[in-house]
Amino acid sequence: MSTATTRPAARELDLPAVDPPIDATAGPVPLLRGLAGLQRATAMYPPGHPMIAQRLKEFAEVVKRHLTQLPPDPHDRLGSHPTIRLDLINGDVYLDGVAFHHENTADAPFARELVDLGIHSIHIADGVTPDELLGVADLLTQFREGKAGETIEDQLARRGVRHVSLGRIVPLDTRWTAPEWADAPVGPLDPDYAKSLAIAEQAFDAVAAGRGVDLVTVRDLVQLLVDKVARSNVALGQILALKQYENLTYCHSVNVATLSLLLGRQLGLDDTLLAALVETGLLHDIGKTRVPLEILKKPGTLDRSERRLIESHTTLGAEMLVETDGLYPLAPTVALEHHRDLTGRGYPDLGDAVPHALTQIVAVADTYEALTGARTYRAPTPPEQACLIMARLGGRRLNSSLVKAFVSAITFFPLGSVVRTSRGETGVVVGTSRTDPLHPVLVLVTDDPDAPRREIDTSARDSSGAYERHIVETLRPDDGRVDLTRILAPPSPGAS
Ligand SMILES: [Fe+2]
Ligand SMILES: [Fe+2]
Repeated sequence: MSTATTRPAARELDLPAVDPPIDATAGPVPLLRGLAGLQRATAMYPPGHPMIAQRLKEFAEVVKRHLTQLPPDPHDRLGSHPTIRLDLINGDVYLDGVAFHHENTADAPFARELVDLGIHSIHIADGVTPDELLGVADLLTQFREGKAGETIEDQLARRGVRHVSLGRIVPLDTRWTAPEWADAPVGPLDPDYAKSLAIAEQAFDAVAAGRGVDLVTVRDLVQLLVDKVARSNVALGQILALKQYENLTYCHSVNVATLSLLLGRQLGLDDTLLAALVETGLLHDIGKTRVPLEILKKPGTLDRSERRLIESHTTLGAEMLVETDGLYPLAPTVALEHHRDLTGRGYPDLGDAVPHALTQIVAVADTYEALTGARTYRAPTPPEQACLIMARLGGRRLNSSLVKAFVSAITFFPLGSVVRTSRGETGVVVGTSRTDPLHPVLVLVTDDPDAPRREIDTSARDSSGAYERHIVETLRPDDGRVDLTRILAPPSPGAS
């Protein structure tokens, strides 16, 4: 049996390599400095020392301030907890999914210390107490001194820490557990979606083998996505909902192409432009086929030259696409620009040039796809949170109007999402409403496979005019008891 320590895993987070869209005070450095100060105080002074109290007060204030700056959670009043997500990935600090390249671990020494300790993520949920923060600092000190023996979870629990979790990219020992994600969707798939993935895998493998981009295959694939995949609720559900797999480039590309199409349709683009959009979405990461697989899949920290190689997938992709006759003329442009933001930041360095409108559309789809997929170092982000993160990226990394149009098209709880209602029911979203996007139509999931299908319209109101139920959260269908192909499939003729 493979283990998480030996299994290679696609590592690149296809998220913006740019500055934060929010003010600098909300960046990761105050949090890192606060935690470093507290940890050092707990290491240097005896318990109860005023210096520890002072550092704890400072860190708790930073945490509190940041928690209040998090985007409003539509379910807050129903008991969900906003969470600060600080992730340290390949030399960069990510705060709430946003990369802070200029504040990389070289600029924030404590981040490097954490990575050296094997800690790659610190997530702090609303409701955290000063005692819990102190418990985390104490645990880090124990860790530095090599005293940790029990599991991290046990140590946190023993210290009464319930609102903070620590994680790592690759478990190096038994103190850590990390989920293993599949490389592509598992379980029954929409047949056309499965076919498109198979064609894409073959085509990308051929390019990786040096055979160039096959125009006919690309065109067939575009047609399949436009005519079949994007018209199937089952396929859309499988692309839009939270994805419990760490997809390889071909699968990511099919998903991005389809999501770009949804956004393009929402924008009212004509069929010719839509086909062009799907083609560019499909090929935006084609340059990754020329980046050595061991680097794309390297789970640990990347050095500077490895980082450069990964970043080169933009220029390599553009070069390959320029050499392919017959493609939509903007395909190379989108491949070149898709990691650049609206202010000219990102890679490759192209001066102040603002990405083309088509690139901006693909960038929205690309970001959503990356966020809602799993990564070695983090679980997939539920769609509603992904939408909020993208809203925060609006204005600099992403075009705000496009984010708005995208969220309107897919809604916070897209087709295929497995959700829990305020009445404790579990259901799959089978219908969404533009006028009431937070209250979709569900099919209830029960443990009885023979139970009759029961639909609930969560927009229903009681006699006082109040909603009968809300959606509380998106669930991870880990137990495999949700068969989207069955639930989302159109009813057979004659079925009631
Ligand atoms: Fe990319
Ligand atoms: Fe991508």
